[in-house]
Amino acid sequence: MNISREFLFLSEPNDKITPVVVFGFLEADKWEEMMKVLVVGGGGREHALAWKLAQSPSVKKLYCAPGNGGMMEIGELVDISAEDLPSLLRFAVKERIDLTVVGPEAPLVEGIVDLFSREGLDIFGPSQEGAQMEGSKSFAKRLMLDEGIPTGAAEIFDDYQRALDYLKTIHPPVVVKADGLAAGKGVTVAQDLETAAAALRACMVEGKFGSAGRRVLIEEFLQGQEVSILTLVDGEEIFPLEPAQDYKRVGDNDTGPNTGGMGSYSPVPVLDQHNYQRAVEEILRPTARALLKRGIHFKGILYAGLILTHQGPKVLEFNVRFGDPETQAVLPRMESDLLGGMLAVQEGRLRELELTWSSHPCVTVVMASGGYPGDYSKGYPISGLEEVALLDEVVVFHAGTTMNSEGKLVTSGGRVLNICAKGKDFVQAREKAYNALGKISFQGAYYRKDIALRVVQKNGG
Ligand code: GLY
Repeated sequence: MNISREFLFLSEPNDKITPVVVFGFLEADKWEEMMKVLVVGGGGREHALAWKLAQSPSVKKLYCAPGNGGMMEIGELVDISAEDLPSLLRFAVKERIDLTVVGPEAPLVEGIVDLFSREGLDIFGPSQEGAQMEGSKSFAKRLMLDEGIPTGAAEIFDDYQRALDYLKTIHPPVVVKADGLAAGKGVTVAQDLETAAAALRACMVEGKFGSAGRRVLIEEFLQGQEVSILTLVDGEEIFPLEPAQDYKRVGDNDTGPNTGGMGSYSPVPVLDQHNYQRAVEEILRPTARALLKRGIHFKGILYAGLILTHQGPKVLEFNVRFGDPETQAVLPRMESDLLGGMLAVQEGRLRELELTWSSHPCVTVVMASGGYPGDYSKGYPISGLEEVALLDEVVVFHAGTTMNSEGKLVTSGGRVLNICAKGKDFVQAREKAYNALGKISFQGAYYRKDIALRVVQKNGG
């Protein structure tokens, strides 16, 4: 099939190719004009991003640094850690990467976007200043409080004794948050003041999180269901992706310790149209405006973690990258070209963007190593993936997998695989996800059995 350039791309001449919605095939010679893309990171979120980007007819070559055992099927793995910024830069310069897509928050907070931009390289994500929305909880909280963006009340402390004195004046439950990045472990929901005081001590006296815990927020506990809205932002305009909900606790019925995420689903029926509009108009749009007012031209993904309280949606936290494992439930529903959306951000064209979505919900169940989020063993062979690859509307994103010296796929992390399935409704999507999961095995595999169950029970599917 011969598809003309005019049909495929927006009209302004540009050496970057900007597909709108592309479902066609291209002639071989056209590929020479296409892009080299580097995905930074090696978890389930990055596999989902790489999988979706690899479907773009405009991607000529995909690299993943460092990637994982699943990403090697769709891109070339590059043995550079996501936090080794100088090596990533050297690689991108040498390979003339057209677009770098950053998965995790740490490189963004460290300033990878500023570093690449100074060298004239295109990179998807906010600058270091913008990344403060995740890298400094006090920065984000002050911005919200100053602008009247709905969020929990909070006090910010640099002094341990003053924080302790403040604790004595309030009633639990209360949330204690380390200001900086703490690998997802810096938040304590304290049901009593002793637990809150211990969390304060760990941060401010014992230095559990190093400099990230020197400043602490003591926040109101927000009651309600959590919803994540990942929003494309081009500096001025916003474009929310389909909402998702994740499961942070390790055990069924939200019991046990927090994890990096044990499952997710999209869309989120509990977020009705009224509250969705409130989230967009009272939270997302004013936040993008507030950043601009502070001279921050935020580009990339702004992830709003919201709680649906009785007074409406309120912000629990902001992140500055795609959510994990929300991305694994959102991207399988995106019918349009993700690269087109990213380029619209880069070029300030979000106003023109259109994305289409499958009406089929997606359910993602994480298979983890036994013992996670505590100690666990690695190196167990994984079987059953070939059979699952043949299933309709099912995709498996790898998180903690690698190829061992014998060329066998083995476990290499706490969260190992994301089993994602779409169905005509949530009942079918759940059935397909758990049916696929049942075909996959590795020693000590653990997973939650109640992912999206509350949707099915509430809505009858
Ligand atoms: N799903 C939580 C996160 O990505 O931070």
